[in-house]
Amino acid sequence: MDNNFDVIVIGSGPGGYVAAIRSSQLGFKTACIESRKTLGGTCLNVGCIPSKSLLNASEMYHKAQKEFDSLGIEVDKIKLNLSKMMDNKNKSVLNLTKGVEFLLKKNKITHLKGKGLIKDKNTVQVSDKSGTKNIYKAKNIIIATGSVPTSLPNIKIDENIIVSSTGALSFKEVPKDIVVIGGGYIGLELSSVWKRLGSNVTVIEFLDHIIPGMDKDISSEFLKILNKQGINFKLDSKVTNVNLIKNKAVVDFTHNKSQIRERIECDKVLVAVGRKSNIGYDIKNLGIKLNNKEKIQVNEKFETSIKNIYAIGDVIDKGPMLAHKAEDEGIAVAEIIAGQAGHVNYNVIPAVIYTSPEVAMIGKTEEELKKENIKYKIGKFPFLANSRAKVNNETEGFVKIIAESKTDKVLGMSLICSVAGSLISELAIAMEFGASAEDIARTCHAHPTHSEAIKEAAMAVDKRPIHF
Ligand code: NAI
Repeated sequence: MDNNFDVIVIGSGPGGYVAAIRSSQLGFKTACIESRKTLGGTCLNVGCIPSKSLLNASEMYHKAQKEFDSLGIEVDKIKLNLSKMMDNKNKSVLNLTKGVEFLLKKNKITHLKGKGLIKDKNTVQVSDKSGTKNIYKAKNIIIATGSVPTSLPNIKIDENIIVSSTGALSFKEVPKDIVVIGGGYIGLELSSVWKRLGSNVTVIEFLDHIIPGMDKDISSEFLKILNKQGINFKLDSKVTNVNLIKNKAVVDFTHNKSQIRERIECDKVLVAVGRKSNIGYDIKNLGIKLNNKEKIQVNEKFETSIKNIYAIGDVIDKGPMLAHKAEDEGIAVAEIIAGQAGHVNYNVIPAVIYTSPEVAMIGKTEEELKKENIKYKIGKFPFLANSRAKVNNETEGFVKIIAESKTDKVLGMSLICSVAGSLISELAIAMEFGASAEDIARTCHAHPTHSEAIKEAAMAVDKRPIHF
């Protein structure tokens, strides 16, 4: 095999494999290195995809137990078969990772199996499982090595009793009691899964609210909804220790203001306090510049401090750690290498929490606009007044649109709704095109759909909603 490439991508997550495909489409001879057995990175193997499979299956189980009867669907005995649910999840993961393998082949991308180490700006060494090392040359290298879970001092993740998201996606039995450290994306999605399957779940969050960075209105409404679902919250509390005693864990935490200490005994502890970029010693040895959070510094062209070495995705100091952000950067970086005008608009990146109901947001929050001294107006519309949500018995949540006072330009939007993750795309397009709230208000939305609530919220910006 000819070991010379135009582009070598290290990592095959949503950033890496997309960068490889776009590079190949642009005529570059491309290779993609992956150390995991299957392609697709954290997202496909132990992140977005398996969690969404369990979120979907556990929601069905919950609905069958709690909601079918009121719809006139009488089911005799509903029984959980956790190992079958896990098999279904694993099958979905395998299907999707195979899909990426197919896409690499279709695009004539060389899949290099093993761990990639950058030796110099044009050389990458790949060590496979057997210890064989091969050297490859590249005109351009794209680092897309993603991120790994972080933990807290004194807490060692063993993926048995003290687990990261990886362990919490593969429990063999439904734990009786789970403590989740961190009320962020991972903590709340996985709390929902295990609560629905029968666990007692307590979330301990350092801040006095859940999901940092989310609009406060939405955050407090979301907290109420999750409380109603039976998830316990200990907010404004710091976990100080987790000790293992036989097959149990004992979690010690202190309330930040009162300094009152509490202790919970449980079967599993999920540590979900964030992720850190996955930086190898090769990157440090080469002197590629990192910021103070150990993320790779890149310029607007995704170039690192070494020419011809680019970086994208969770590993860089730009944007949120989200799969779709990494995908967009994958496309942009390949186009930039090809001399085109690749670009990512970091102001318009949607974020979704796939609980039930879902939560989604885009653009600025009200708190950010206050800090930036930007004058704004708000339009809100509750799903309680949306006909489709009403007939589906999904009336929790609301839409909140924020527009600039003077120009009416939409600056941000957040919503809680059963299908928030799909609805947010409408706002992404609107914001990309610089829409005003009036533009959305004057756009015909199909009836009866949840999306009408967006139109109504846009009308509410001008204080003229029809159905509320
Ligand atoms: P996160 O940053 O979303 O949340 C971590 C939470 O832990 C924060 O609320 C933080 O205040 C809290 N925390 C930190 N130290 C603590 C302590 N000592 N005691 C108690 N609480 C503490 O991180 P998470 O949930 O681990 O997710 C990691 C990344 O994965 C996120 O950046 C997210 O963007 C991404 N992700 C995205 C998903 C999606 O798009 N639906 C799903 C899952 C993950």
